[in-house]
Amino acid sequence: MRTAVVTGASSGIGEATARLFAAEGWRLLLIARRADRLEALASSLADTSALPLDLTAEDAPARVRSAVEERLDGHLDLLVNNAGGSRRALFGDTEKGGYANVREIMDVNFDAPVRLTEALLPLLHDSAPSSIVNVSSVAGRVARPKSGAYCASKFALAGWTEALHEEEARNGVHVGLVLPGFVATEGFPQEELRAKLATRWVVSSPDKVAKAIVRAGPGGRPEVVVPRGYWAVPVLRTLAPGFVRRAAGGMSS
Ligand SMILES: NC(=O)c1ccc[n+]([C@@H]2O[C@H](COP(=O)([O-])OP(=O)(O)OC[C@H]3O[C@@H](n4cnc5c(N)ncnc54)[C@H](OP(=O)(O)O)[C@@H]3O)[C@@H](O)[C@H]2O)c1
Repeated sequence: MRTAVVTGASSGIGEATARLFAAEGWRLLLIARRADRLEALASSLADTSALPLDLTAEDAPARVRSAVEERLDGHLDLLVNNAGGSRRALFGDTEKGGYANVREIMDVNFDAPVRLTEALLPLLHDSAPSSIVNVSSVAGRVARPKSGAYCASKFALAGWTEALHEEEARNGVHVGLVLPGFVATEGFPQEELRAKLATRWVVSSPDKVAKAIVRAGPGGRPEVVVPRGYWAVPVLRTLAPGFVRRAAGGMSS
């Protein structure tokens, strides 16, 4: 039976990913902070257990590694680094923005997946062929106002993932990157876009991202943009940077 660790599985994309892999017969270890949500999901799925913890805690990587050793017999086919969050704020906002906000968002969206990957990489080597999927964002290719901390974390995650993809191929660990566009979830409700007929179509679902995670992990794709049409955004950013800057700059509410 194939095994996976899925972070951020208490809601949204991570929950949809857990449901999809469980339906395909994988044995899962699910991570997030909300124990009630995580345990309810785990008990509704076959061969799934929950490990409620804060991934930014100092001892989190070691605790996940111990749980993989105990509950998955040390065998790991897939690590999905999906947990993440955002707090929109102007950098110059002395209450919500500034370095404190950048540090907090970098901790959960960049440092936590890097630290967890470091702790689990020896197990992924031993289980090779195996894979890692890092969930970045289209905001990891094109930035917009009030999202500087989030964009910085997702740009960093995308860059690090590209390097790791090349480094780990020789060890039999495939490293894939998923770049979702707007997806309606608890953490990212996309209320404004969903409220208008003209923009509703740009909002995707967690189930679509879960399928993209399958393609970028066991499917062996180095990079998956979801929904597919969003691939044009970073391309346009390179070809027509002024146009994209004006468009993204308008999305400041
Ligand atoms: N939705 C979008 O439009 C969109 C677009 C591009 C990329 N993404 C990325 O997709 C990923 C999933 O987001 P989502 O849209 O599914 O949002 P979500 O429903 O808010 O899910 C975020 C998940 O991360 C977990 N999490 C957050 N901080 C954590 C921490 N310190 N330790 C452990 N778990 C933590 C949350 O669980 P707890 O609160 O229980 O800890 C939750 O399970 C994120 O990395 C996000 O940046 C989302």
